[in-house]
Amino acid sequence: MKILTTGGAGFIGSHTCVELLNAGHEVVVVDNFVNSQKEAVHRVEELTGKTVQLYEADVCDPDAMEQIFSEHTFDAVIHFAGLKAVGESVAQPMRYYRNNLDSALTLCETMARHGCKRIVFSSSATVYGVPDEVPLREDMFCKGCTNPYGWTKYMIEKILMGICDADPEWSVVLLRYFNPIGAHESGRIGENPNGIPNNLMPFITKVAAGQLDHLNIFGNDYNTPDGTGVRDYIHVVDLARGHVNACEYAQQHSGCEIINLGTGVGYSVLDIVHAFEKVNGIKVPYVIAPRRPGDIAECYSDPRKAEQLLGWKAEKNLDDMCRDSWRWQKNNPNGYQA
Ligand code: UD1
Repeated sequence: MKILTTGGAGFIGSHTCVELLNAGHEVVVVDNFVNSQKEAVHRVEELTGKTVQLYEADVCDPDAMEQIFSEHTFDAVIHFAGLKAVGESVAQPMRYYRNNLDSALTLCETMARHGCKRIVFSSSATVYGVPDEVPLREDMFCKGCTNPYGWTKYMIEKILMGICDADPEWSVVLLRYFNPIGAHESGRIGENPNGIPNNLMPFITKVAAGQLDHLNIFGNDYNTPDGTGVRDYIHVVDLARGHVNACEYAQQHSGCEIINLGTGVGYSVLDIVHAFEKVNGIKVPYVIAPRRPGDIAECYSDPRKAEQLLGWKAEKNLDDMCRDSWRWQKNNPNGYQA
């Protein structure tokens, strides 16, 4: 298949490009590099020995999108591009709604004009809101998000569902990611957050590297086995492989499917710290800090639908995630900057 990946230079996008290319697909990337680097795409080419056609453009720009679609006939699109920092979305709601909704609509309008009706969307477990029970199943009612970032994911899901209802030729796969961590095992591509990381694993790797003093563990009084928050961490390469299967699924089916991408296993913050220390032989100093507003005690997936529909399940374990995250950080202390 020939596949357009929006945001293909980002963390999940770049890993997905590698897996698509390795599976024999052709890949075109559009990215505005607002939170990613061109170097990631060069490294995708280096890892796969294949070329990627790259457009530096904003998915919100209808003329740029028209140009790309007039130069290619795509079998499917994977839409990763979007702003993704939870805290920033609370401070800058208009920017988040404008950017994330505008880009999704511009993309879908361009696709419709060109008769490209297959899309895989980067959604998030955040759309489940505060769950009544775990594991989370795709048919559970979403009670509402806790921040504008989450709402943009929720709204884009609704937009894509509406498009499918109106035109049964569309094929939409909404992938709800749990907590992607890890990096390509080559250590050449990985997560490269701007400034001080918000998410757990990039924070741990910066502490391990001595760039940050210690980890703050946000709360140890949750109703979980050790009191710290429990999440479903998934290796980004497993997640990337899930997108390859989702594109192939979308080629065979029409309509809209929501699919969790997780392992189905929950680990606590302390589990992650201890596994990281053991696997990498390096200490991660931490202190127990107050709970972070908006956090929930436990969140993990029921991953069975992905196995049934996509024939996919996560294969890598927590040790792989910790080892690969650290290899990326160690080999690239300044991310993609030389
Ligand atoms: C967060 C977002 C989620 C988003 C996802 C992207 C919130 C409320 N949710 O998920 O919408 O889709 O990132 O990856 O922000 N922790 C610490 N210390 C830290 C950082 C995190 O103890 O410095 C803990 C958190 O309290 C949590 C766990 O580690 O229990 C995971 O946190 P994080 O990596 O930020 O992911 P989520 O909050 O699950």
